Amino acid sequence: MKKTQIHIGLLGFGTVGSGVVKILQEKAELFEEQLGLKLILKKIVDKDITTKRDVEVNPSILSTNLEDILKDPEIDIVIELIGGYEPARTFILTALQEGKNVVTANKALLAKYWEEIFLASNKYSASIGFEASVGGGIPLILSIRQGLIANKITSIFGIINGTCNYILDKMAQEDKEFNQALKEAKNAGYAETDPTLDIEGKDTSHKLAILTSLAFGQWIGDENIYTEGITRITKKDILYARELGYAIKLLGIAKIVQDKIEVRTHPTMIPEKHLLSDVNGVYNAIYIEGDLTGPLLFYGQGAGKLPTSSAIISDLINIIRGSNNKGDIYSIPNHKLEIKAMEEVKSKYYIRFSALDRPGVLAAISGILGEYRISIASVIQKERGDVVSVIMLTHEAKEGDMKNAIKRIDKLNTIKGKSLIIRVEEME
Ligand code: HSE
Repeated sequence: MKKTQIHIGLLGFGTVGSGVVKILQEKAELFEEQLGLKLILKKIVDKDITTKRDVEVNPSILSTNLEDILKDPEIDIVIELIGGYEPARTFILTALQEGKNVVTANKALLAKYWEEIFLASNKYSASIGFEASVGGGIPLILSIRQGLIANKITSIFGIINGTCNYILDKMAQEDKEFNQALKEAKNAGYAETDPTLDIEGKDTSHKLAILTSLAFGQWIGDENIYTEGITRITKKDILYARELGYAIKLLGIAKIVQDKIEVRTHPTMIPEKHLLSDVNGVYNAIYIEGDLTGPLLFYGQGAGKLPTSSAIISDLINIIRGSNNKGDIYSIPNHKLEIKAMEEVKSKYYIRFSALDRPGVLAAISGILGEYRISIASVIQKERGDVVSVIMLTHEAKEGDMKNAIKRIDKLNTIKGKSLIIRVEEME
């Protein structure tokens, strides 16, 4: 008999959870018209079921017990919105085992337990949707999995952490230092509960693991991704970068270079005229190159109640229409490319040294760089005084050589403090 109703269980009645409930209520007729069946929100589970939300629900559907969703045979689809590893992991695995389809926004969980989750999805023939895990409301996962299916994706450059983009933007536009900008991001409610996930680049790497694995057809866990955050970037670096014609963005980068995968998260200098330089505030943007499409730019709100809810509902509808996967992502049988060690990656570099303002200092620095085959493209020293910033741009060099050279230079007694490097992508 054809189903006339689909029962949904929601775990997590926070900001996004209440957004999903609101949309399910407000657009119930539209969904029924489109799907030919009714969507029934049967249970909402949360630790806190007493605080008033900005949406009304029948109190009888609220519970604090996960089993009320997991053991209800009538519930077809569960939505997990509590984040973190546990109990989210066990909840998802049990739901799949019970044959329930799952929708999740949990990027940290997917970046760590991808194989386990997709094997379970495959084994129990239950779908898993995760559009909301990367890029909030931007329909990115669907585009990579379906819209770009005929392409070989060769590179991804993503601004996929709104908090970091907001901080860097505040520093650039309002001449603020990092700590002040972070404080403002927290006050505006953008940062994760634990902001280190944002500012240390980990949230970007979680999302990059998901994108890269889909785009390149092989699982690349976040433990394989070189990750550096934005905590050492100063207002001064942003000003120097601007003078040199660049903006500084925290990018998740994945590309295939000579049949090896490069995948890394770090602050990056990109040409000011590139479209990604104009992505301001908490917005996300993902620049993807396909062999058939050429460059594509996806832009939009990477977080927030309604954009994220939009992605969740999209998964829900795709599962009901039967157009979602059942573990197929895990079993993509593509060729396995080696992941390039970070030391082997080649890049141009911006370097900021804190050096004593004395004759011979520059000669000592450039001598060591020369020993490591690093060629200097330009030098700026504007300040005069005791300790000054010396800025260098290099030609392309190997990361391993750069790290070794900097280690040696930082031991010179004319260098005061740790030197900072920022990788430069010309994005041609
Ligand atoms: N903390 C994340 C960000 C939220 O700043 O983009 C969405 O994943």
